[in-house]
Amino acid sequence: MPHFSYQAGVLHAESKSLSNIAEQFGTPTYVYSKAALLENFDSYANACAGRDALVCYAMKANSNLAILDILARRGAGFDIVSGGELLRVIAAGGDPAKVIFSGVGKTVAEMRLALAHDILCFNVESIPELHRLNEVAGAMGKTARVSLRVNPNVDAKTHPYIATGLKASKFGVAFDDALATYRTAAGLPHLTVAGIDCHIGSQLLDDAPLLEALDKLIELIDALAREGIVLHHLDIGGGLGINYGEAGEAEPVPVADYLGRLFKRIDAWRAECYAGAPIKVIFEPGRSIVGDIGVLLTNIEFLKPGQEKNFCVVDAAMNDLMRPALYQAWMDVQPVVARAGEAHTYDVVGPVCESGDWLARERALVVAPGDLLAIMSAGAYGLTMSSNYNTRGRAAEVMVDGDCVHLIRQRENPADLFALESIIK
Ligand code: LLP
Repeated sequence: MPHFSYQAGVLHAESKSLSNIAEQFGTPTYVYSKAALLENFDSYANACAGRDALVCYAMKANSNLAILDILARRGAGFDIVSGGELLRVIAAGGDPAKVIFSGVGKTVAEMRLALAHDILCFNVESIPELHRLNEVAGAMGKTARVSLRVNPNVDAKTHPYIATGLKASKFGVAFDDALATYRTAAGLPHLTVAGIDCHIGSQLLDDAPLLEALDKLIELIDALAREGIVLHHLDIGGGLGINYGEAGEAEPVPVADYLGRLFKRIDAWRAECYAGAPIKVIFEPGRSIVGDIGVLLTNIEFLKPGQEKNFCVVDAAMNDLMRPALYQAWMDVQPVVARAGEAHTYDVVGPVCESGDWLARERALVVAPGDLLAIMSAGAYGLTMSSNYNTRGRAAEVMVDGDCVHLIRQRENPADLFALESIIK
């Protein structure tokens, strides 16, 4: 995380000290680096330069309007999974013509909203969904562009909760059913078959499974072309991982290397089978755009020695950052100001009333109450997965740009949390 570094012994985001940010905005607070965000997006954009390609940021990873606005200005499209996410794109000034809509359970209302805004494509996941979309589009006098999410049945070799491309997954249309499903789609009057998509899983460090999935998609595109169903785009999904800093963890393949190999394969295929006619390529990256742009800043409330373990009780909790509790995810913990002294081993835990409320386990730390800690690489699936459990307001979010810091989401107040509730009179 080069945009987070120690300067004169204090951890900084770009040129801004995290101690100052904690003083100004309190804790827990998510702190993002704008330069890191741009650098990550540009690694995709640069590898796509001169090609008919679209990077549709998977905004479920972090949907703050400030982040969407920065990416939209840089030319990004968006991969959405709800009507709410589409409204966020619009509120941030994003272009619906660059939006693709993923997800297994799109409601009629969501389909109507997306059709009214003329989104680029619906990534359809089942035959009943095709029929529903056809009806909704017909009733609106519109034609919906569709892609089928195909399940290529490749092993992404990642955590089972975030692997999505295997046969037992709820996602996508089985590879063997794909041709028949495309025939159904092509026969529906209010749909236009536009593309094919897949997403095999998340936090992939190696691109081999992604390239294997690409080959499966190519096989289907060729088979469809033989039947006269011509696809205009190929969407390989997201999934590229980041380095969370755990000892022994493999480095993720650089974006440029993965995209280089992918385009090389696509170019060779198009040259051989389609006289070089290109096909539009879409990507849906989430974590690799925002994962390492942010940290969760938290204050140590107490150090609690125990008979078997020592606890470092902080003011952030599982409701702020669910990844450790949900996936046993390993997140790096760094002191904002490094102290000298003897390290002790702690579990870093929050105040929530669950044993599963931990952020890190068995970490050697030199700390005292009142010290600040940074949970590193928390930019993806942090705030967006947070909840109000225990009537805890969600954390504030700030964006650092050089030596300026902008509040991009206010901390929630308890009164905000029950404002929509009412007592029965
Ligand atoms: N496209 C689709 C259809 C997806 O379902 C996802 C993520 C993405 C793209 C973006 O994947 P990425 O590039 O971020 O790997 N909460 C989990 C990760 C869940 C991923 C869900 N789908 C975590 O914190 O590790």
